[in-house]
Amino acid sequence: MMSEAYKQAHTFGMDFGTSHFKFGPITSGERPDVIENRGYFTDRTSLIQQVSGPVENVIVGKDIPLYLESREDLSTRLVYPMRNGVIQKDNDRSWTVVREIARFALEAHRPPDSRFLGYYLVASLSAVSPRYMYEKLFDTLRNIDSEFGSVMAATIIPQPFSVAIAHKTPTCVVIESGHGNSQICPISRYPVRNAVVAINRGGGDGSALTAEILKDCGYGDLIHEESFVRNVKENIGLIPADLDASIQLAKNNPEKFRAVYRVPGTRIAIDLAENSWMRFLIGEYIFDPEHELFQSYFSRGLRKPGDVRFGDTLFRGMLDFGDAIVEAVERCPVELQSHLYRQILLSGGNFAWQVPAGMEDAAVSAPAKVKTLLEEKGIVDPTVTIAQNPQYSVWRGCIVYGYAVTADFSWTWEKFEGWLNLR
Ligand SMILES: Nc1ncnc2c1ncn2[C@@H]1O[C@H](COP(=O)(O)OP(=O)(O)OP(=O)(O)O)[C@@H](O)[C@H]1O
Ligand SMILES: [Mg+2]
Repeated sequence: MMSEAYKQAHTFGMDFGTSHFKFGPITSGERPDVIENRGYFTDRTSLIQQVSGPVENVIVGKDIPLYLESREDLSTRLVYPMRNGVIQKDNDRSWTVVREIARFALEAHRPPDSRFLGYYLVASLSAVSPRYMYEKLFDTLRNIDSEFGSVMAATIIPQPFSVAIAHKTPTCVVIESGHGNSQICPISRYPVRNAVVAINRGGGDGSALTAEILKDCGYGDLIHEESFVRNVKENIGLIPADLDASIQLAKNNPEKFRAVYRVPGTRIAIDLAENSWMRFLIGEYIFDPEHELFQSYFSRGLRKPGDVRFGDTLFRGMLDFGDAIVEAVERCPVELQSHLYRQILLSGGNFAWQVPAGMEDAAVSAPAKVKTLLEEKGIVDPTVTIAQNPQYSVWRGCIVYGYAVTADFSWTWEKFEGWLNLR
């Protein structure tokens, strides 16, 4: 067993998000490195690749765009292993990508010091991950360590738990909403597993609605690049205090609420002009897609978030965030419930919405919106806050956990906590 000082200096965090993988050692400060959580399987039969020398079978990280051929089989070559938060046990391609991504992250941060004996690695997975994912991930890390000597010991924690740790709040409800899906997880020292509510909706759905709005406003030729639409969404989308009232305000003051986005370094400018009130639809949709205004988008082709089952977990499509929190809290002991409503913690990029100066009468922050939704359900004065760096709080919690849990605390499969020695 290593000394505490060694462990603390060599704590490493990994957050396996549905769209992004965030990673880095304790020395990274507040910001981890970020790459897309995906891998590209190269075509070994391609002539140009035979000419340019052997390449690895799976490419991960910033090099992927160099390999993206305009081929019809791209979707089978480009694998997003955690798109749904859960990987099937026998999905070998997905597990291969996970291995490559983890190996890449560790090698990118291999200390030059020859006395380096491996990291204490804290990895974070979705709260609905079944036990076999823990087993598979430990096996994967052991396999990496046997080849590269980069992981001394490892532990795995659920993402919402990691957020609670980053904020040092042992009793709370964490809502983690990223690009692919959202998880609502009550925590009382440890996640209350049977109270987790999973939602099949995230920032990606806000992007999908943004694409429909762009189509309606005459920018249909620009919607084929996912990352472009996502930028438009982040720049023009607003959360309405009250959808009908905010739309009315925007229709009465089109100039004040005008949604304009210029793409830096290009001639492209998006201007919703008299349709600028539509920017409020984007924010509302994230929190509550049930409003009747969305029906016309569904009937014209917007993919309606449906209920889906992955493994043992049902991910709900249309449940609004207020109902989802109430449902999760009401699965907990009655005595705990009022404490949980006092500590609701939002995390994930999907809650990072801005309120532009001067628009406070119509646009609100994510915590204010969630508070309103809860009050509508009869919860008196709930306390809702947002994590400091919502996109990175899971990774931050991994570092805090790894630093604090002593090296002699061994992993147990009863409690799912402690360090698993991989050697
Ligand atoms: N300022 C912003 N305003 C609105 N949305 C934002 C903002 N910044 C990021 N997002 C959205 O947050 C989402 C990414 O969040 P995050 O990085 O937490 O996801 P992830 O961890 O990859 O996925 P997941 O948590 O589902 O596994 C994207 O949909 C992105 O558009
Ligand atoms: Mg995430």
